[in-house]
Amino acid sequence: MSVTSIPVLTIDGPSASGKGTVAERVARALGFHFLDSGALYRLTALSAMKHGVSLDDETRVAELAATLPAAFREGAVWLADEDVTDAIRAEAVGEGASKVAALPAVRAALFDRQRAYRQAPGLVADGRDMGTVIFPDAAAKVFLTASAEARAERRYKQLIEKGNSASLPALVADMQARDARDTARAVAPLKPAPDALLLDTTQMDIESAVQAVLAHYALCQARNK
Ligand code: DC
Repeated sequence: MSVTSIPVLTIDGPSASGKGTVAERVARALGFHFLDSGALYRLTALSAMKHGVSLDDETRVAELAATLPAAFREGAVWLADEDVTDAIRAEAVGEGASKVAALPAVRAALFDRQRAYRQAPGLVADGRDMGTVIFPDAAAKVFLTASAEARAERRYKQLIEKGNSASLPALVADMQARDARDTARAVAPLKPAPDALLLDTTQMDIESAVQAVLAHYALCQARNK
């Protein structure tokens, strides 16, 4: 099987759109591998913070990204021999990830690593530019959105459930600021691929979104036959 014949389903969209959960469940349903590309940007930011490297030092951050000792094992995320599953989800690391993701050299350093996840029998790739830049030849593409208010509310519930304090208006503002940065950046901005299915999940639960994505994938597969 040549690499380009291995099917890829891309799921892109803004943060807290539910796409991580949807993508993971879709990958499980299809028996495919799963790439959480946002985790690679989060790991890069965390690694820079740990090494005392400034997040706008493009050369040094890109070096860290190129040699990231990252591993995804049994539902946990590792940086060398440290389990950083929870650490990379911290708001400060998410902020840092958004900053390093705007640096072209960092995106270039992570390009091949992301494409290497394309392995039989198939891949579900979750991110911002999976369908536009990393896997433009994907078999099926989905762009998952939800209003900033709905996404802030979901994040708020997650934080409260974990026993953290949170402010809903602050989360809405954060969400809008991060969207603006991710959408306005010069390299690989957050935007749907022209051939992506737009799925607005503001009024949808996770299970309905999973079913909609699986139906779209089946339709694309049938069309390609
Ligand atoms: O999906 P996430 O919240 O874990 O992503 C963290 C940051 O990384 C987010 O600010 C956008 C950026 N990112 C990106 O630029 N390209 C990707 N393919 C995935 C994430």
